Amino acid sequence: MSFTDLHSHILPGLDDGAANEAEFLSMARVALEGGTTVMVATPHWDLEEKPAPWEHVPPIVEQYRKKLEFVGLGLELLPGAEIRLNAGLYRLTGEETAVRRLTLAGNGRYILVDLPLMDLPVGMEETIFRIQLCGCTPILAHPERNRRLADDPALLRELADRGVELQVNSGSLTGAYGRVARRLSAALLREGLARLVASDAHRPEERHPDLSGAWKRAGELLGVKAADLLLKENPRAVLAGEDLSALPTGDVSRRRSRRR
Ligand SMILES: [Fe+2]
Repeated sequence: MSFTDLHSHILPGLDDGAANEAEFLSMARVALEGGTTVMVATPHWDLEEKPAPWEHVPPIVEQYRKKLEFVGLGLELLPGAEIRLNAGLYRLTGEETAVRRLTLAGNGRYILVDLPLMDLPVGMEETIFRIQLCGCTPILAHPERNRRLADDPALLRELADRGVELQVNSGSLTGAYGRVARRLSAALLREGLARLVASDAHRPEERHPDLSGAWKRAGELLGVKAADLLLKENPRAVLAGEDLSALPTGDVSRRRSRRR
C-alpha cells in the first residue's frame, strides 16, 4: 500500500509553496517516486485575510489534476486547506455548515489547523472546542515545530486527550528542522500522541514531498506496523472520515525488553 499525504503546498500561486507549474510537476514526481499516490493540496489559509477556501481551492485542484493527467503522472490530488487557528476561524465556528466545508477533501470530518511557530494564539482551546461542537475533528499540523509546545510538551498531551489529532512533519522525523523537532517528533510517536505523519511539502528539494525517509524512521522507532499506520492507514481513514487507529506502541517495549 502506498502513502497518502494529507498536508502539502503543491498548488502554485496560492502561498509560499510551489512557485509555478514546473515546480508543481517536480513536486508531484518527487512524491510519486517516494511512494505517495494520494496527496491533499492544503494551501495556507488565514480566514482573517481571505474567506472561503472551499470556493477557491477545488477548481484549482481540478485544473492541476488535468495537468497531471496530461503529463501521465498518476498522483491523485484532493482539495484541502491548512487553516490558521485565529479569530477568523473562531468566528466561523458559529456556523456548522461553514466549518464542515473547511474539512480535508470536503468530507465533513477532519480540519487541518496550524499555529504560529513561536506562540499559542489567544482563544486556542475555545476555538478547538467549538470546531468539535460542529462535529469536526481538528488535526494540528506540526505541533513539534511550535516553540511553546516544544517547551511544554504536557500541553501536547492535553490537546491529544481533548481529541485533537497531532500531525508530525516528515522532515521533523528525518532531522530537516533540527534536533529539537527531531527529538520531539520521535517522542510524540513513541508516546502514541501523534497518529499522522505528512510532508508539509513546499518545494521539490528542500521541504520536499518524499515520505519514504519518514516511513523508514518511524519504522526504526516503532516498527513497520506503526509506520504504516502513520503514513498509510490513518491518513486514509482521515479521507474516509473514519476514526484513527492507535499506534501499536507496545512493540517498542517488547523490542526494548528483547534487547536487554
Ligand atoms: Fe503547511
